[in-house]
Amino acid sequence: MLLRGVESVQDADGTVHPVERPVVALCRCDKSSRLPWCDGTHKVIPR
Ligand code: FES
Repeated sequence: MLLRGVESVQDADGTVHPVERPVVALCRCDKSSRLPWCDGTHKVIPR
């Protein structure tokens, strides 16, 4: 999921992650090693 123009993202634990780029990719598969951000791991997960 790409987010544009946001200043921060709050995860399920309530932690606020500042956003300093115009577009960021949010992980939706929950397998990223750098949650809440997508690191491309979803591409190698079997369906
Ligand atoms: S959506 Fe989870 S690693 Fe990309």
